[in-house]
Amino acid sequence: MHTLLTAAQLSEGIDRLARDVRQAYGDCPLTVVGVLTGSVVVVSDLIRRLEGPVRLSMVWASSYRGTATRAGRLDLRLDLLPDLTGQHVLLVDDIFDSGRTLEAILADLRGRGAASVRSLVLLRKQGRAEVAIEPDFVGFDIPDLFVVGYGLDYDGAWRHLPHLAVLDADDIVTGGASTADSPG
Ligand code: IMP
Ligand code: MG
Repeated sequence: MHTLLTAAQLSEGIDRLARDVRQAYGDCPLTVVGVLTGSVVVVSDLIRRLEGPVRLSMVWASSYRGTATRAGRLDLRLDLLPDLTGQHVLLVDDIFDSGRTLEAILADLRGRGAASVRSLVLLRKQGRAEVAIEPDFVGFDIPDLFVVGYGLDYDGAWRHLPHLAVLDADDIVTGGASTADSPG
């Protein structure tokens, strides 16, 4: 495992994202919707830098990765959402990979009468998108490597690392038998 982004670099990225978000929304009240589980670290760092009124809500997504590094079937649970009528909603996730998670959640959020719906990701993986949409705010573009830390996991582990690390080939169990779900 080796470091791709240090804790200091991530912190600068969140500062920049928070500035960009406030520039886009002004003093407007904002409803941040985080995607469990991977976005918990970025969401908690981001909302503390967003001056002005912020509400927080969470949804849950999982693409049944287990020990696979490519996504499988997408499972969503949006039942924790409050009424979003008239609100400015910012969907926040850890990483934009195929883009299918964000695309599916955005499609649902757009049907809930919000005043606006935009999206923010900490990371975007190069050359992997399978959808036409792009996130409105992106912290870092990274190469097509499987990364862990700062909320992101491999088979449930490593979310707690304060930096972002790349798993090397021998860290990854290819074709592993684990079907255990590691949410979002
Ligand atoms: P997408 O639907 O393919 O864009 O996948 C998005 C989700 O897959 C993210 O929210 C992550 O949970 C997970 N994911 C994608 N790439 C990585 C990675 O490199 N490390 C850890 N999780 C990842
Ligand atoms: Mg996730």
